[in-house]
Amino acid sequence: MNDSNIQLDDNGHLKHFLTIEGLERSLLLNILETAETFSGVGARAVKKVPILRGKTVANLFFEPSTRTRTTFELAAKRLSADILSLNISNSATKKGESLLDTLHTLEAMHCDMFIVRHANSGAAHFIASHVAPNISVINGGDGRHAHPTQAMLDMFTIRKHKPDFSKLRVAIVGDILHSRVARSEIHALSILGASEIRVIGPRTLIPWHIETMGVHIFHDMNAGLKDVDVIVVLRLQQERMRSALLPSESEYFRLYGLTEEKLALAKPDAIVMHPGPINRGIEIDSRVADSRQSVILQQVSHGIAIRMAVMAMTMQSQSGIQPEGGHADPD
Ligand code: CP
Repeated sequence: MNDSNIQLDDNGHLKHFLTIEGLERSLLLNILETAETFSGVGARAVKKVPILRGKTVANLFFEPSTRTRTTFELAAKRLSADILSLNISNSATKKGESLLDTLHTLEAMHCDMFIVRHANSGAAHFIASHVAPNISVINGGDGRHAHPTQAMLDMFTIRKHKPDFSKLRVAIVGDILHSRVARSEIHALSILGASEIRVIGPRTLIPWHIETMGVHIFHDMNAGLKDVDVIVVLRLQQERMRSALLPSESEYFRLYGLTEEKLALAKPDAIVMHPGPINRGIEIDSRVADSRQSVILQQVSHGIAIRMAVMAMTMQSQSGIQPEGGHADPD
């Protein structure tokens, strides 16, 4: 699935944000720089800028979410947009209405942007292909396919600690097979020029042919973690496993759980990341999750600035808004 054409307008600006795949390095750097201008807004007395004043954003989460849904909501509020968070469990799709009919209903309410999370890979692309041309669609995670804002907030977090991507050796550990985060991160790290990307996990959780994405595969944690600068730990996505792919959670933790002993194999200043939700004692030991090297909560905070940047940039495409942090709302 290559969404790069549909994502950009005729001037090369971001119109939708569906996937990292196929985007230019300069665009990813622009997102990071724009997020930098927004990162201080949350520390101001008035935590708002007027960039999306008068715009209406609809949060359409067809799958559970804590971090992505709430940080998009906060990001929209900090940009002064009005935000509708649809309660999908009570929405008309549960009464048999098709996805497109629900979308057209929201279009009729003059929404300007849809944030979409869906269990089906390709859902955000499908929606972007069917909405009115004045609406931007941002992918909040679709099936196993992509989670582009998660990847960008992770790049933002990495850059805060390790500014030069060309010197980075990054290990992504765990359930690569079901992970949209892993796919988006591999694209982002490759485009930004990371020196080496490793994936580590049991054979049953590594997708066939992933080496074509330019990664090195390891099935042994001790070898895979040696001298890495960044460790991204992934959640075991049991809800996407159709059959038993693991002997047991305790066996998984023994072999692939990130403990202090295994972390010691990485560089001494390595950072530990996790997109959440974290499962302590399954993929990560509490002492590592809460350690000085863990940047897991920083990732959550950075998600607000990245989502502000992406929302402002897509609205620039739609209406010429300048996506910069600027001054606090005078109201
Ligand atoms: N990282 C992430 O997507 O978390 P949520 O499922 O809580 O949104």
